[in-house]
Amino acid sequence: MRAAAARSARIADMEGAPMARRKKIYEGKAKILYEGPEPGTIVQYFKDDATAFNAEKKDVIDGKGVLNNRLSEFFMNGLTQIGVPNHFIRRLNMREQLVRNCEIVPLEVIVRNYAAGTMSKRLGIAEGTQLPRPIVEYCYKDDSLGDPLVTEEHIAAFGWASQQDMDDILSLALRVNDFMSGVMLAVGIRLVDFKIEIGRVFDGDYQRLIVADEISPDSCRLWDIETGQKLDKDVFRRDLGNLTDAYSEVARRLGVLPQSNVTKPTLIN
Ligand code: CDP
Repeated sequence: MRAAAARSARIADMEGAPMARRKKIYEGKAKILYEGPEPGTIVQYFKDDATAFNAEKKDVIDGKGVLNNRLSEFFMNGLTQIGVPNHFIRRLNMREQLVRNCEIVPLEVIVRNYAAGTMSKRLGIAEGTQLPRPIVEYCYKDDSLGDPLVTEEHIAAFGWASQQDMDDILSLALRVNDFMSGVMLAVGIRLVDFKIEIGRVFDGDYQRLIVADEISPDSCRLWDIETGQKLDKDVFRRDLGNLTDAYSEVARRLGVLPQSNVTKPTLIN
């Protein structure tokens, strides 16, 4: 009982704790990871930074981190509801969430329903062409190499994941795809493609794989079904307008931000 009270006090303390008091574990392009309040947890902080083309294009987009924190919470909670294991524990505040610490498998797992981006370029298929079935691709996570596409042969030969892991990763990726496609379809949005990352967690001697990192418009391609309007990071990559407006629209349709609290204050004369 006392342990539980101490634990909740520690967690409550984290919510208001200034960032300086936490130990930074890692800083990436869009997120910072801090040590969590309990062993096996970390705090994931969403920055406003946007990068594209392997960080050749950079900007700070007001409110992006707040939106991605909320949207990733929404998708991960939905996955939990349908029994897809993932790292999310709970949201702490506007920009931070508590997640399970895990060992990230060094692969970007991409699922595509419609051709776009690098697949369109590589294979000469017009953007927006529906694929005969969802296609799963793997890229080796290494920014200095530009995350190159790899096959299961590379993955097995270099020991990045075992054959059992690959079976589990494929089934997680396809379940996330069905869930995300359905959630988006219900609000008039087409899930063109997305990327997930997978984490390894250990329960004693037993290891299992869970969905980790984030699921947000930064890592998905989302098009309005009626108009084809892009509501994802391509707005930034291709200079198509205001990125926060696009992400707010996704959040609004999903009921994640009923009254958008990321709009700027208006001056009353
Ligand atoms: O992002 P880009 O067009 O270069 O690559 P892609 O292979 O066409 O990306 C497929 C999907 O994965 C898109 O929804 C990207 O936003 C996402 N992705 C990502 O989130 N992070 C990466 N490092 C690469 C792709």
